[in-house]
Amino acid sequence: MMFKVPRGTKDLLPGETGNWQAVESLIRETCRVYRYEEIRTPVFEQTELFTRSVGDTTDIVQKEMYTFQDRGGRSLTLRPEGTAPVVRAFVEHKLFGQPDQPVKLYYMGPMFRYERQQAGRYRQFVQFGVEAIGSDSPAIDAEVISLAMDVYRRAGLENLKLVINSLGDKETRNAHREALIRHFEPSIGEFCSDCQKRLEKNPLRILDCKVDRDHPLMKTAPALTDYLNESSAQYFAEVKEALDMLGIPYEVDPNLVRGLDYYNHTAFEIMSTADGFGAITTLCGGGRYNGLSEEIGGPEAPGIGFAMSIERLLMALDAEGVKLGDSEKPDAFIVALDEPSRLEAVRLLGELRSAGIAADMDYLGRKMKAQMKAADRIGAKFVIMIGENELEQGAATVKNMEAGTQEAVPFREIAAAVKQPS
Ligand code: HAM
Repeated sequence: MMFKVPRGTKDLLPGETGNWQAVESLIRETCRVYRYEEIRTPVFEQTELFTRSVGDTTDIVQKEMYTFQDRGGRSLTLRPEGTAPVVRAFVEHKLFGQPDQPVKLYYMGPMFRYERQQAGRYRQFVQFGVEAIGSDSPAIDAEVISLAMDVYRRAGLENLKLVINSLGDKETRNAHREALIRHFEPSIGEFCSDCQKRLEKNPLRILDCKVDRDHPLMKTAPALTDYLNESSAQYFAEVKEALDMLGIPYEVDPNLVRGLDYYNHTAFEIMSTADGFGAITTLCGGGRYNGLSEEIGGPEAPGIGFAMSIERLLMALDAEGVKLGDSEKPDAFIVALDEPSRLEAVRLLGELRSAGIAADMDYLGRKMKAQMKAADRIGAKFVIMIGENELEQGAATVKNMEAGTQEAVPFREIAAAVKQPS
């Protein structure tokens, strides 16, 4: 029997993990500069956490969750997203009581959604996300957006589009909800069965439907922005002002609704506009979620955040032809010519590694020529040759592959010579 990776997941082989590590470290560096600290939560949570926060009429909750019962009969779900778990941890560990507010957190880890597999859409994917909880200043909305843009820019992406919208507060949303019902109700029979259910429960979700997205009524649907009350409009204006101060260009899209229910006020997405990026162009999505903390039993704690998948970031880099860190080349490769030399090679290898030198040797008992070829193939900077002569003289032949020079170096001095080539 041959086994394969489960549909919608993939293995990252050694040639690919270098890129991932490069992206991960530039993300951590960006978070350090913005003063966001890492939080790690479990990959599974109580199912109800997601049904309550993401919303039970959303695609995520209705169709995409990996939900199972553990042996104790509890319903658990592999996290489809990171915001609800982070806010849960914020409430559970009373981070709202810390003197330093807002609490600025970031996370990076696998998320799970049972989605149809296509380019840029996986069933297990890695999200990097941030959550700033405890402030409703429009300036922090701009900070969060700026952090996301900075990650992309530092990675070398140029073809980006930031789209923002305001979903307003509760009052705004209620007025808009009524308008949506009036708009869709007369023709709801032409919509899919999910949309028919959404009409009463959550008509905003109709705008997000993948099945009916081309229905003419979608284009003429009442826009949320027309229903913004004064304080919501004021808030949105201040977010835009702060973005202007940061020199971040954006487009306002009144039709931008996000696929999760916890949002209000600011919502945003960042797309790739690179040619050949593929059908799914959204790299990152986020927004404000005032009320989520209360919804899951916590105190009032307004929040805003975003998440992006590393997979889509790497796809965008590919589409723009940006190369990140090459896989690292070893400092040294030891070529041993006979059995006694091999033993000395084992000892020397241990010594070099203890000194922090990336080194390797042959483990296939190959002839000298094949060993030299191997050293060349992996791009070793130094080749250290040990044979009968070298053992007798207590000095190995050390070849500097870049300079093309070679010299005899006493065994005790090899680590220093490789570390600081003369
Ligand atoms: P989301 O829009 O569901 O938001 O996902 C955010 C990002 O995760 C997407 O823009 C995309 O980069 C990535 N993503 C989602 N699904 C997949 C998939 N199947 N395969 C690959 N990448 C995917 C959230 O998850 C919110 N928690 C974001 C947030 C944080 N809002 C506030 N704070």
